[in-house]
Amino acid sequence: MKPRFLITAGPTREFLDPIRFISNRSSGKMGYALARAARRHGNVTLVSGPVALKPPPGVTFVPVTTAQEMAEAVLSHEADIVIMTAAVCDFRPRRMAVRKIKKTGFDGLLELVPTVDILATLGKRKRHQLLVGFAAETDALEANALDKLRRKNLDLIVANDARAMEADTNRVTLLYRDGRVERLPEMSKARVAREILRRVNALGVAP
Ligand code: CTP
Repeated sequence: MKPRFLITAGPTREFLDPIRFISNRSSGKMGYALARAARRHGNVTLVSGPVALKPPPGVTFVPVTTAQEMAEAVLSHEADIVIMTAAVCDFRPRRMAVRKIKKTGFDGLLELVPTVDILATLGKRKRHQLLVGFAAETDALEANALDKLRRKNLDLIVANDARAMEADTNRVTLLYRDGRVERLPEMSKARVAREILRRVNALGVAP
């Protein structure tokens, strides 16, 4: 049986009012490269936030906008291998105004509440699934990534410097559940995707 891959990509958008949102710089390039490369290894579903890229042919494409929509799409989908490349917003405005917020009368304060941690939720309910996370950091890359690997019950976490956002290349460090650490040189995101998938396949889906 071919494994079922579920790959997420891109940012999410968290709306303040009908025309404004909070988001981040994620371009979706790494996640789309993974979806493209995973097609030869199994059936691929790509859940993507809003990006300027065309979905690769041959994948089941699920476009979403907010963290809540991404959570619903991912948590309701059966998969053997989940790779969470998406830069999910950790917070959203407590309320979305129905009408445009006007300058006059706005006190400048924005109240934010946490979004669902999709990967942590998958980590809690995990049985046979293989879970791969991403960590984009500006500081203490490996220590932060290791903490996320443990906290979210992952099999593998791919750590990269936040400077890789929007770029066509990436330099990643892979941290495994068993404590192994692999530092890969800088290469194209397409090549990084192939290297990651080769290792994910070697891990196999847990019996
Ligand atoms: N992630 C997720 N749901 C969220 C936030 C993050 O599934 N609400 C996933 C990301 O897709 C990524 C991993 O968790 O694979 C790490 O995301 P990151 O934002 O770096 O981790 P956080 O736990 O939010 O830590 P922090 O923001 O404090 O660095």
